[in-house]
Amino acid sequence: MLKLSLRFVVPLLLAVAALAYLSVPLMDRLTLRWFMSDLDQRSHAIAATVVGPLREAQQQAMAARVTGLLNAAATDERLHSAALCDAQGRIVARSAMFPATVGCAAADPSTPRVLRLEQGVLHPTAVPLRLGDSPAPTHTMLVLHDMSFIELRSGETRWYAIVTFAVLALVVALITVAVAHLSWRGWVRGVRAMLTGEGLLRPFAEGPATIDKALLPLEAEVRSLFRRLERQRAADTGASEGWSAQRLRAMLQTEYADDEIIVVSNRQPYSHERRGDEVVVTQPASGLVTALEPVLRAASGTWVAHGSGSADQQVSDRDGCVQVPPEQPSYTLRRLWLTTEQVKGYYEGFANEGLWPLCHIAHVRPVFRAEDWRHFVDVSQRFADAVVKSARRADPLVLVQDYHMPLVPQMIRDRLPQATVVTFWHIPWPMSETFGICPWREQILEGLLGSHIVGLQTRAHCRNFIDAVDTFLESRIEHEDSTVHRGGQLTRVAPYPISIAWPPANEEPIEATRARIHQWLGLPPGHRMAIGIDRLDYIKGLIERFAAVEHLLRSQPQWRGRFTLVQVASPSRSDLPEYQAFHDRVLDEARRINDAYGTERAPAILLRVEHHGAQTVRDLYRSADVAMVTSLHDGMNLVAKEYVAARDDDLGVLLLSVFTGASRELHEALLVNPYSAEQTGEALARALAMPPAEQRERMRTMRAWVRSHNIYRWAGSMLIDAARVRSRERVTARIEQLQRRPLKVAV
Ligand code: G6P
Repeated sequence: MLKLSLRFVVPLLLAVAALAYLSVPLMDRLTLRWFMSDLDQRSHAIAATVVGPLREAQQQAMAARVTGLLNAAATDERLHSAALCDAQGRIVARSAMFPATVGCAAADPSTPRVLRLEQGVLHPTAVPLRLGDSPAPTHTMLVLHDMSFIELRSGETRWYAIVTFAVLALVVALITVAVAHLSWRGWVRGVRAMLTGEGLLRPFAEGPATIDKALLPLEAEVRSLFRRLERQRAADTGASEGWSAQRLRAMLQTEYADDEIIVVSNRQPYSHERRGDEVVVTQPASGLVTALEPVLRAASGTWVAHGSGSADQQVSDRDGCVQVPPEQPSYTLRRLWLTTEQVKGYYEGFANEGLWPLCHIAHVRPVFRAEDWRHFVDVSQRFADAVVKSARRADPLVLVQDYHMPLVPQMIRDRLPQATVVTFWHIPWPMSETFGICPWREQILEGLLGSHIVGLQTRAHCRNFIDAVDTFLESRIEHEDSTVHRGGQLTRVAPYPISIAWPPANEEPIEATRARIHQWLGLPPGHRMAIGIDRLDYIKGLIERFAAVEHLLRSQPQWRGRFTLVQVASPSRSDLPEYQAFHDRVLDEARRINDAYGTERAPAILLRVEHHGAQTVRDLYRSADVAMVTSLHDGMNLVAKEYVAARDDDLGVLLLSVFTGASRELHEALLVNPYSAEQTGEALARALAMPPAEQRERMRTMRAWVRSHNIYRWAGSMLIDAARVRSRERVTARIEQLQRRPLKVAV
């Protein structure tokens, strides 16, 4: 500490000494100049009083009288002596004390202004006098002032200045040392606390009181944030471990142990249907259920959806709730009842006649009706209300699904401001010129920006979304980290490509399946087969697929009767005229091509317009030489991934439209432009002729990709990101809460 003090004090004293050394002579010179100017004025005053008598005595040549007058003038205290010089610079009279060594030359201003003589230190002042008749001065009165008193005073002043500087230096040094000691101690303590994790983050009981108790919850939040980041880092570096249902569950247990999770979507995970006197449970063929069920099971959460099954009301309680899955109930399905008009306006109208064709480039004109929009807003509010009613806590994690729900995120935030809302948009997001067609584009975007995270299938969709926000809303966009700031809310926009479960179910040997399926379909053994599995939807490119088959059979007739496209088309949205027309066109085209290229042995296209169960679909995948995915536009298309997953023999060829999200991941597929029947037909021929070695090479690479990029990874990465948002929000809320109250920190 002594060293520290000296480090401060010594330079300070040196600085003060230097200052004194420079400024004292300066002060000296200044005071001397003031004094001399005073003396000069005095000389003039004295001369003015004696000039009259002097003139008289001089004119009467009374030399003794002149000397007497000079003696009289020099009697003034501090005046040493005086002399009268004539125009030629000769002394004509002098007072008694006037030194003999001083001549009239001393009157010249260029001579020294201070004379150091044995009589003392003297200052000469020359005052011109007019003693004759001429108007010009004839004489000069040379007055010598005694300057010893000035010397004395100047010495005193110098002494006072030095003492003042010294005292000042001492006081400043003392203050500096005191302040330095205090801040050094505080600083050292602060740094030590930081390094040891004590101080601010140290609980009361563990040591000296350093912090307001109110900071303790913040400590827990910050610690949990650090732990989460640590886990995230470990997860990132250990990405090769892969995601599985178990890992997803384990992640949920660590990240969401006490949290509540609510899913909201239009389509429900289980539907109760009346079949005669019986009630049967059906599950939609949807990857969504595969992904989100483990999440809800682990969290015992709630799934809010439209109850559309014919027996749904019968099996649900007063709140529309039923425990699912039926064989092992572990979460709540909360059903929402909608009127026929609401379904028509919200689901069929705005969602499927408006947004669906708007977001897919399939050249079907979107239809926007004000009446549909009104229902869409009302039903969205009902979904949001159902989420709020389901919430047991103020801060649930709400996972909003798809294009039916764009208004719901903000509606939830309005009612549950502490909720974390993550929205996943399963279908493509169009370019802003296209999106701008929607008359309620601003409301759609505002609703979605109520989400903390908006997830889309691909980077290109994310870019389109951000572009739409940029075009139609006032907001601040950070392109670097893909975030939108608007109205005090922050939304992250990120791609989370959806996928399928892995590992796929264990299956019988593939040859056995193939034989069974061929028999079931009435196809001869060894018959070559391509498969198409789709909802009967105009975006799926069924007509284009048929055209490719037609091209193959026309250009390579050897395949007639030896190849069949088995097309499964699940009826979808069949109340809509566009879908009804599409259904008819598909049937007509299949018939026409079969008439032209089918043989008695086998049809060119075997079309089955009905829903097929998951097992049948898997069997079809395993039996097919080729899977044809020819969508005109598709957010992802899980059929492509399901086909790859089903092929544990590493054989089979995937023919994939470049307009699907899946084509961004499955590069080893034969990528096609479905708008070209020739190109797609030739790719089909190539697939049928592809040697097994090439098939294996392509299939293995695609399987490795789907294995690591499975549905658990999709859900897991989104939930980890959401957990990060939640901890950040909690810490921010805590800090804001602390800022609102006075903080007492004991030092
Ligand atoms: C698309 C949508 C899903 C929807 C599915 C079936 O894949 O992204 O949200 O569930 O189609 O459509 P549907 O109208 O029958 O629910």
